[in-house]
Amino acid sequence: MDTTQLFSLKGRSALITGGSRGIGRMIAEGFLAQGARVYISARKAAACDQAAKELSAFGHCVSLPADVSTLEGAQALVAAYAKHEDALDILVNNAGAAWGAPYDEFPESGWDKVVDLNLKTPFFLTQALTPMLKKAATDHLAKVINIASIDGISVNPQETYSYAASKAGLIQLTRRMALRLAQERIVVSAIAPGAFASDMNKLARDHGDEVKERIPAGRIGVPEDMAGAAIYLASRAGDYVMGSTLVVDGGVTHAR
Ligand SMILES: NC(=O)c1ccc[n+]([C@@H]2O[C@H](COP(=O)([O-])OP(=O)(O)OC[C@H]3O[C@@H](n4cnc5c(N)ncnc54)[C@H](OP(=O)(O)O)[C@@H]3O)[C@@H](O)[C@H]2O)c1
Repeated sequence: MDTTQLFSLKGRSALITGGSRGIGRMIAEGFLAQGARVYISARKAAACDQAAKELSAFGHCVSLPADVSTLEGAQALVAAYAKHEDALDILVNNAGAAWGAPYDEFPESGWDKVVDLNLKTPFFLTQALTPMLKKAATDHLAKVINIASIDGISVNPQETYSYAASKAGLIQLTRRMALRLAQERIVVSAIAPGAFASDMNKLARDHGDEVKERIPAGRIGVPEDMAGAAIYLASRAGDYVMGSTLVVDGGVTHAR
C-alpha cells in the first residue's frame, strides 16, 4: 500500500463553488496543497479574483465568477470552466445561503433563495458537469462533494426553516445521486460542517469563545479540519465512501 499517494490530488482538477471565502476557500487551499488545479467561483468577481490571486501562492488557482443560483448561471460557469479544462475530477457544491426569520413572518423570498442555491443548484450543476466528470473518471474515480450542514441532521434552535430543510434535503439528495452516479464512476458524498468562522457563521467568527462552550471538542472548526475532510473524500482515500455525509463538528450533533 502506497500511503504517500492515498491523499494526493496531483494532476486532478477541482471546481469549488463559493470558493472565494469561508469553507470553500479552506477546501481550495487544502486541494492546492495536495497538488490539484483549483477553480473557484463566487458572484462577486473582484473578491473571487482576489482570493484566486492569494491562493495562487499554493498552486494553480483560477477565478471563475458566476451566480450559480440559477440554471443559466450554473451553465455559464460550466462554459467558463470548459475554456480551461476538458474534464473535471472533483466538484465541490459549497456555495450556500441562510435566512433566519420568525415563523409567522418567514417570507417566500427567504425560502426560494435558500432552497434554490443550497438544494437545486447542487443537482443541476452536477447534472451539467456530469459529461466532464465522466471524462475524468479514467484510472481513478471522479468525485462530487456536497457541503451540507449539521443543521440538516439535528435541529438548530435558530429559526432558519428553509436552511434546515435544504440541508436535510441535500443529505438525502447525496444518497440518491450517489446510487445513480456510481454507474458512471462518479462518487458522490457530503460533508456536514459544524461551526466554522465565516461571513455566514458570524457567531463562530465573532463570538468563537461563547460558541466553543457548546462544542464537545472545546473549539470551533479551523481550516485544517475542513480541508482534511474534503481531501479525504476527494482523493483515493475516500473512494469507498459513497452517498455518506461526513460530520465534521467537534461532536456538536451528539450534544445538542
Ligand atoms: N460556516 C459554517 O459554520 C457552516 C456550517 C455548516 C454548513 N456550512 C455551509 O458551508 C457552505 C459555505 O458557507 P460559509 O460559511 O463558507 O459561507 P460564506 O462565508 O458566506 O461563503 C459563501 C460563499 O458562497 C458564495 N456564494 C453565495 N451565493 C452564491 C451564488 N448565488 N452563486 C455563487 N456563489 C455564491 C459566496 O461568494 P459571493 O457572495 O461573492 O457570491 C462565498 O464565496 C454553505 O453551503 C454553508 O451552508 C457552513
